[in-house]
Amino acid sequence: MCGIMGYVGPQQAAPIIIDGLKRLEYRGYDSAGIAVANSRIDVRKSEGKIVRLAALLDREPLEGTVGIGHTRWATHGKPSDLNAHPHTDPTGSFVVVHNGIIENFQTLREELESGGAALTSETDTEILAHLVAEEYDGDLAAAVRRAVERAEGAYALVVMTINEPRKIVAVRKISPLIVGLGDGETFLASDIPAVLHRTRDFLIVEDDELVTITEDGAVIETIDGGVVDRDVMHIDWDAEQAEKGGFEHFMLKEIYEQPAVITETLGGRLGEDGTTWLEDVEFDDAFVRDLETVWITACGTAYHAGLVGREIFQRVLRLPTIVEYAHEMRYADPMIKRGDLTIAISQSGETADTLAAARLAAERGSRMLALTNVVASTLSRYADDILYTRAGPEISVASTKAYLAMLIGQYLLALRLGTARGSIDRERATEIARGLNRLPAQVEEILEHDQAIVDAAGAIVDADDIYFIGRGLDYAVAMEGSLKLKEISYLHSEAMPAGELKHGTLALITDDVPVVVVVTQRATYDKTISAVQEVKARGGKVVAVAYDTDTEIEKFAEIVLRIPETDDLLAPVNAAVPLQLLAYHVAKLRGHGIDQPRNLAKSVTVE
Ligand code: M6R
Repeated sequence: MCGIMGYVGPQQAAPIIIDGLKRLEYRGYDSAGIAVANSRIDVRKSEGKIVRLAALLDREPLEGTVGIGHTRWATHGKPSDLNAHPHTDPTGSFVVVHNGIIENFQTLREELESGGAALTSETDTEILAHLVAEEYDGDLAAAVRRAVERAEGAYALVVMTINEPRKIVAVRKISPLIVGLGDGETFLASDIPAVLHRTRDFLIVEDDELVTITEDGAVIETIDGGVVDRDVMHIDWDAEQAEKGGFEHFMLKEIYEQPAVITETLGGRLGEDGTTWLEDVEFDDAFVRDLETVWITACGTAYHAGLVGREIFQRVLRLPTIVEYAHEMRYADPMIKRGDLTIAISQSGETADTLAAARLAAERGSRMLALTNVVASTLSRYADDILYTRAGPEISVASTKAYLAMLIGQYLLALRLGTARGSIDRERATEIARGLNRLPAQVEEILEHDQAIVDAAGAIVDADDIYFIGRGLDYAVAMEGSLKLKEISYLHSEAMPAGELKHGTLALITDDVPVVVVVTQRATYDKTISAVQEVKARGGKVVAVAYDTDTEIEKFAEIVLRIPETDDLLAPVNAAVPLQLLAYHVAKLRGHGIDQPRNLAKSVTVE
């Protein structure tokens, strides 16, 4: 996720901004830039790490005591000098940096170009510099207000103009923004660690608020000009706690980011009636109509996302969908043929096995779509089509928010493919779209009521073995829940389809052996409950993940983790969240480090 830094005060701005950006490096980025106001505004920017920007500044220094800086994590347009922020209007009088995504970027771009504007980058951000300049009539805050009225999406937008050189104006919707209050100097940043060594007094800018900073402090208003009286927050965290946003571990922080991640991944891509706009998915309707087989290939958590994808595609497209571990697919001589679609899923886009399987599919004539979180990753460079998940950098080795974003990506793809094939009608597409749009609030609700999950963790922490069961989509989620638990708690855990239990594993179910059952799918509810009865009859301890509307489940399960009811097709998104938290709390109770489990790496670039 991008990093923002701004400074107004008596000191030279450039070194303070570079220092702040370095302290935001943990957020991940692929280019960086800075603008400083003096008699004019000058910009320096560079692809790659901040050291390259710092070297550029050594060669071409910037003098001045007001400035803004940015580290960019690419979403629109590849990482490059040109796409790096800050961006300016054509006169260079207005300069902006931005985190987030402008959803109506294409419409605004066309509007500006038809009015004669020449845009020099591929970003959505440059458009905002043009809009602010167009709207300016002597009052920067008013111009920013009018500009963001024209933009839809998520943003923390920071703006400077040479016409009012001693101030910076910023506005927030969804993407985070904080103000640091110093003595005769004021800071703006996307996150507290950027300036925690300079001040401990902060103002948190909330959604739909605008802030103006000068050396005398900050004034926050609502986006329509209302007065905001925000209390100063005094922060006692150390630097490491601050990077984690006050959470104890990155994994927990990333779990709590999931409502925003869903919103970002859907942003600008989904209409109310299920119409989709997937910017780098370029296959045409004729390709979709002639499609006979969909292949999905991936490893680990991404493979588990693919298991959910298989069910989604089969239900929505009524097409055979084959999911293969990438390391198996490579050696299985798969019957992939010209005209097939292969979806390679990878958070990093660098997993060696997945890259090899994707290459094999392409060699066999399949169209290859990359579903990945990292713009310009190797996987996306191989692909015919790309769907970026927009989860932001994931630091914890145990993947959580990237998994949820992969599920959302596959729902979007299913809508795109299903409507083009005519395998779902508008009414069904509308229902799915409505359900998808409700998910951020539902996940938020699960996160707000996590006490039952903490209690469940306490009840299973001393087990030696744990089993996860479910059917269909529930089985796919059970697989992921089991992996999460084992990789961070080091507890032996296995997942299997609920119907498989009686074919062998039931022999291992004795008194108090925990069995986690995911039971959301109405079509197979009774069948899954039969498996639960088999467990109970052997003394097993049943922990169920079930809808909050399920009035039966307490008869069968000792512990019930409730999730908001959804369309059954969408249930995996909500069902995965308590299992992520369960794994987290068990690992914590067992005293493990969590973010870097033993023997594991975040990105597995060897075969
Ligand atoms: O970057 P990728 O999505 O390709 O990584 C694949 C797996 O290595 C990864 O999902 C791994 O299983 C997770 N760290 C598990 O939480």
